[in-house]
Amino acid sequence: MHHNAHGRATLGGKLSAVLVAAGSSVGLGNIWRFPYVAGDNGGGAFLVIYICCVLLLGLPIMLAEFTVGRASHRNAVGAYRALDRRWSLLGYNGVLAAFLILGFYFVVSGWTAEYMVHSLTGSLAHFTEATQYKAVFENFIQNPWRPILYTCLFVLATHAVISLGVQKGIERSAKVLMPLLFLILIVLSVHAVLMPGGEAGLRFLFRPDFSKVTASTVLVALGQAFFSLSIGIGTMVTYASYFKADTNLRHTALNVTILDTAVAILAGVVIFPAVFSVGIEPSSGPSLVFITLPSIFNGMPWSMVWSSVFFLLLVVAALTSTISLHEVITAYLHEEWHLTRRKAAWATTAATALLASVASLSLGAWNGLELFGMSFFDALDFLTANILLPAGGLFTCIFVGWKLDQQVLRNEITNRGALSFRIYGLFRALLRYFCPAVMLLVFLDNLGVF
Ligand code: PHE
Repeated sequence: MHHNAHGRATLGGKLSAVLVAAGSSVGLGNIWRFPYVAGDNGGGAFLVIYICCVLLLGLPIMLAEFTVGRASHRNAVGAYRALDRRWSLLGYNGVLAAFLILGFYFVVSGWTAEYMVHSLTGSLAHFTEATQYKAVFENFIQNPWRPILYTCLFVLATHAVISLGVQKGIERSAKVLMPLLFLILIVLSVHAVLMPGGEAGLRFLFRPDFSKVTASTVLVALGQAFFSLSIGIGTMVTYASYFKADTNLRHTALNVTILDTAVAILAGVVIFPAVFSVGIEPSSGPSLVFITLPSIFNGMPWSMVWSSVFFLLLVVAALTSTISLHEVITAYLHEEWHLTRRKAAWATTAATALLASVASLSLGAWNGLELFGMSFFDALDFLTANILLPAGGLFTCIFVGWKLDQQVLRNEITNRGALSFRIYGLFRALLRYFCPAVMLLVFLDNLGVF
C-alpha cells in the first residue's frame, strides 16, 4: 500500500491521477446530458461557447481545486478548514451537492443499466418506430419499482468499489473502465460517421449557427462545463488529496479537460447522426439517448449487439462518476465524523439510495411530489447544476485567488519549484478577476436577475 507522509492512501503511477480524475469527469454529463443540452441550444454554436468555458473557466478552477486537495490531504470539508477555518462552508456546499447530484444521477444510471440488460436479452428489439421507443421509455421510467430496483443495484455496485478503498477500488476500476470506455466510444463513432444519412447530424454539431445564440446559451454552457468537469463541488479536492507529491497538477488538469471534452464531442458524433436519421427533434430533452439510439440500432444488422455496447458505455461512464461523488461523502464522514471507512460508506449508500428512490418515484407514482414547480427529480438537477455548482466555483476562485497564501498555490503548482509554470501570471489573473466575474453573471442569471 502506498501512503504519504500523512499516513493517507495515495494513488500509484503517473497515469493514475489522470485516469481517476477523468473517471470522475467523464460520465453521463458527457454522453447523456451534453447531447441534449447542445441539441436544445443550437448545436454547433453551443459547442464553440462550451469549449471556451471549459478552457477559460474549467481548467483554472480544476487546477485551483487540485491545489486545495493536495495542499491539505483532506476531504472536501477538512481541506478548506485546514487552509482557512472560515472557508469550510465551501466544503459543506460540495458534500451537499454530491449528495443531491447522486439523488438523480443514480436514477439515470439505473436506466442505463436496465437498457443494457434489455439490449442483451433482446427485449428492446421488438419495436420499429422512434415513437414506440418514446412510449417504452416513458412507460419504463414511470414504473413504480423497476427503475428503483436497477437504481439500487447501481448504488450497490458503486458501494462495492468504494469499500475496496482508494487503490484497490477507485484506482483499479478506473484503470480498467476508462480504456474500455474510450475503446467503445471510438468504435461507435467510426460506425456513426460511416452511417448513411448521418451528415445532417454532423453538420448540426460542427457548423455553428450563431443566430441561435441567446444570453442564456452562454450560461447553460457554463453550467454544463462545471457539471461535466466535476468542478465546484469538492470532487477534485477529494481526489487530489490522494495525489502524490510529484504528480504534475497542471498536466493532470489539462489531460483531464482534454479527455472530458473529447468524449463529449465524440458522444455528439455518435448521437446526432442518429437523432437526425430517425427524425427526432434534437431538442427533445433528457430522453434523447434513450429514444434515438435504440431506434437507430434496431434498423441495423446485429442491432442488439450495438445497443448492448452503447448502454454498456453509459453504465461504465456513469459508474466511475458515481464512485467519485460517493467518495466525497464517504471521505467526509470518515475523516470528520470519525466513522470507520466501512460505516461511512454504508451511511452514504443508504442515504443516497433512499434519495434516489424518492427521485425515481417523483417521475411516476408520486408525480405530485414537486419542488420549485418541477418534479423532485428535475429539482435536484436544477438546484445542483444551476445553483450549488456555480456557487462552489465562484467561491473556489475567490478563495484560491484572493485568500489562500500565494506561496501554497505556487508550491503546489510547481511541485515546490521543481516545475516551471510560465503562464502563472495569466492563470492567477483568470482566477482572481475573469472567472469570478463570469461566475457571478452565471449565478445572477440562474437566480433570474436578468
Ligand atoms: N462529471 C460527471 C459527469 O459528467 C458528473 C459529476 C459531477 C461527477 C460532479 C462528480 C461531480 O457525468
